Amino acid sequence: MNSKDCEDSAVDCGKVDYGPEHIMVVDDEAGIRRFAARTLEKLGYSARLFADAEAALSEALTGDFALVLADVHLPGHDGRWLLDQLVTAVPDVAVIMITGDRDLELALECLSRGAVEYLTKPVAPRDLAHAVGRALENRRLRLENQAHRERLEELVQERTRSLLEATRALEESHKEAIYRLSAAAEYRDEETGLHIVRMARYAAIIAEELGQDEEFVRRLLLAAPMHDVGKIGIPDAILLKPDRLTPEEFEVMKSHTLIGGRILAGSNSPLLKMAETIALTHHEKFDGSGYPRGLEGEAIPIEGRTTGLADVFDALTSRRVYKPAFPLEEALRIIESERGRHLDPRVVQAFQNRLPEILEVKKAHGDGEVAGSPLSGRAGIEYRHRLR
Ligand SMILES: [Fe+2]
Ligand SMILES: [Fe+2]
Repeated sequence: MNSKDCEDSAVDCGKVDYGPEHIMVVDDEAGIRRFAARTLEKLGYSARLFADAEAALSEALTGDFALVLADVHLPGHDGRWLLDQLVTAVPDVAVIMITGDRDLELALECLSRGAVEYLTKPVAPRDLAHAVGRALENRRLRLENQAHRERLEELVQERTRSLLEATRALEESHKEAIYRLSAAAEYRDEETGLHIVRMARYAAIIAEELGQDEEFVRRLLLAAPMHDVGKIGIPDAILLKPDRLTPEEFEVMKSHTLIGGRILAGSNSPLLKMAETIALTHHEKFDGSGYPRGLEGEAIPIEGRTTGLADVFDALTSRRVYKPAFPLEEALRIIESERGRHLDPRVVQAFQNRLPEILEVKKAHGDGEVAGSPLSGRAGIEYRHRLR
């Protein structure tokens, strides 16, 4: 990355602070140390001299060196040991190895272990100057690239965060619009419109317990409130009838699933597609006796099975024009008795596993109703009639 790229790039390259580029010379021969120090100082570098690898390493760990010139042959730990330690512990330091015996294999081994260059003794001042210049320049480029990459990563994370925030804000406004419009569809037969808030949350909790991914659960939370939009096409005389529906009236009532499906059909939005599926399948039953298509078992999409249970549980525990709210114990008993019949056993199990959270939702978004007296036989039949 050169400065021109930095100017052209939308990314701030960031300044890399190289500090004073101190150089360390590690050689057991005093003459070589003096020669290197003189040459480097003439070139404007500051050099520190060490006769053995251990002392050099403990100083290098301070992180204040840009370059280490190390003899391969040292008393005690040799130059290769020092090279290995430096590569691991201070990876920003460039290392040039110096070998006295023109041993090409040894030099190549040092390069493969991470040295940037090697010099053979006797080292000419010009060769030393060139090697040091190249090593420092490469180090600068490496550090600049690294800083640039880090800055890019930060930028990507920052933008992902703002994108997520924007998406969340958009989702919130979608959510509000969905809930308001769905509440409008429920307006005639729901007293407070809280049914859709509760049942969507119940469904989301159940789906989460069933191991559905986060995206699915979030989508379900937004799609479930639309399950009964088709009620908009059902006449008041049927929708609000406090008595038992005649078979003809019930046929009309059942059509709210198909009307809802039609209202939501044809969208490319995954959310509306899911809402369409839910509208069409939330009255299907696990044993195949539901409507509109009489789907059976896992042929009923999971979003239909989860919202189906959530809808039933909330209908049972809420007052409706045709029935009082049932006591919780009674509602739970009915849910259990419908395991494998109306309801998918796995979905019932997930509901029961997360019952404490479901009851929290019920408490937080309740209609403030007092539950009616325990079910009479007729009320039970009425429930089945309505939700059949
Ligand atoms: Fe429905
Ligand atoms: Fe409902």
